[in-house]
Amino acid sequence: MNFQIRNYRKSVAAVAFLLLFPLLYLSQTYSVQNVHMVLPTRRNKTFDVCIVGAGLSGAVIAERYAAVKNKYVLVVEKRNHIGGNCYDFIDNETNIRVSKYGAHLFHTKYKDVWEYVQMFSEWVPYEHKVLAFVDGKHIPIPVNINTVNSLFDMDIKSIEDMDAWLKKEQIQYKHEPLNSEEMALSRVGLKLYKLLFRPYTIKQWNKTPTELGPTVLARIPVRNNWDDRYFSDQYQALPKRGYTNLIKNMLKSPQITVRLNVDYFDVRYKIECGKTYFSGPIDRFYEKKGLPKLEYRSLSFERKVLKNMDHFQPASVVNHPSLKDNFTRIVEYKWLPNQEFRSNDTSIVYERSTADGEPYYPVPNERNQNLYKRYKTFANSDPDIYFLGRLANYKYFNMDEAIKNALEMFYKTVND
Ligand code: FDA
Repeated sequence: MNFQIRNYRKSVAAVAFLLLFPLLYLSQTYSVQNVHMVLPTRRNKTFDVCIVGAGLSGAVIAERYAAVKNKYVLVVEKRNHIGGNCYDFIDNETNIRVSKYGAHLFHTKYKDVWEYVQMFSEWVPYEHKVLAFVDGKHIPIPVNINTVNSLFDMDIKSIEDMDAWLKKEQIQYKHEPLNSEEMALSRVGLKLYKLLFRPYTIKQWNKTPTELGPTVLARIPVRNNWDDRYFSDQYQALPKRGYTNLIKNMLKSPQITVRLNVDYFDVRYKIECGKTYFSGPIDRFYEKKGLPKLEYRSLSFERKVLKNMDHFQPASVVNHPSLKDNFTRIVEYKWLPNQEFRSNDTSIVYERSTADGEPYYPVPNERNQNLYKRYKTFANSDPDIYFLGRLANYKYFNMDEAIKNALEMFYKTVND
């Protein structure tokens, strides 16, 4: 890829920037926003691949092109850090490692993904457990025998009894569930639906479950045993030194150049790329086509430091389904076992679901699915650009799915 510096004045500025560059590179947080016209060329050589976004998806593509194909890769990232939504850091005030964009727990059933991530980090085994605060009690989530016993003062003692209880509760429809309410009622029945799933869904999506497609609540895990792990995948762990470090290791080849604080749309006509992989929102890429925007839910995070407190709550994540609480959950990162330092304090983060802000969760309804298909038609007829990751696919990906998607994309397109 070649950043072309077209006139003398820009060249002077480019020299100045190159002189400053080593210092700025070390800090990893330099801003080239105002000088993107003079982004440095890779002296006398060209970049083969450009990648938009330094999240997990972009990092996999960059790593593979450098490691497998020995290619020169440029990654542009509009934020001031790598890692995308997996970005974490050690908070100076408390010495606790926290995630900037919500708790991230790695879990996968894919052996190839598990083996791939071993190359970039040591891993600490960790099976995530979540509680919900309901009617003054902490109950385990996903719903299992203990949840039902605790919520309804029951004494279910066997899998058979739990199956029988669920069967009695579940509402049978003659048709496939038409929306998320029907889906939830067919899986857990009215009591659990009213207490947990309906209010939590309203808080998370600002829509009632009847307004959401059946898929949203199709994946709520309900267990007929005592398994209170949040995920049941074979591989569950946290990167020992955090996700930012994991992704930094993926990007560490000298063949890979990362530019932070660069919005691709500010530089796209000033750069020439052999190939481009785009991991930003697909509707932003095609915004000039005049279609409506795709809808996303976002989150706001409110952090509180609690001095001289060991822990605030009994688990790293406590969900608050009740409509009386104006937040969806509280995350206390100190519980996570990949902390590096001891802290006398703790910090908690209140999460609230919002309509505005960073695009996090695609809203899976018919309008958005149809709209996405129209965007996808543009993408299919655009031979020079590959779309990858959760924003470009308009699909919620767990981290392992993002990695898998990117690995598959690499092997499918590497010889194009
Ligand atoms: P991601 O969004 O991370 O990266 C895209 C990057 O592109 C961003 O850094 C963005 O700034 C950049 N970009 C966009 N437009 C650009 C432009 N025009 N120019 C330059 N750069 C641009 N998964 C899991 O397995 N376990 C978990 O516990 C969680 N928890 C979780 C919590 C929350 C709140 C969210 C929102 C998500 C999760 N996830 C998760 C999912 C996980 O975050 C997700 O799988 C990965 O971040 C996907 O990585 P991508 O690279 O696809 O997107």
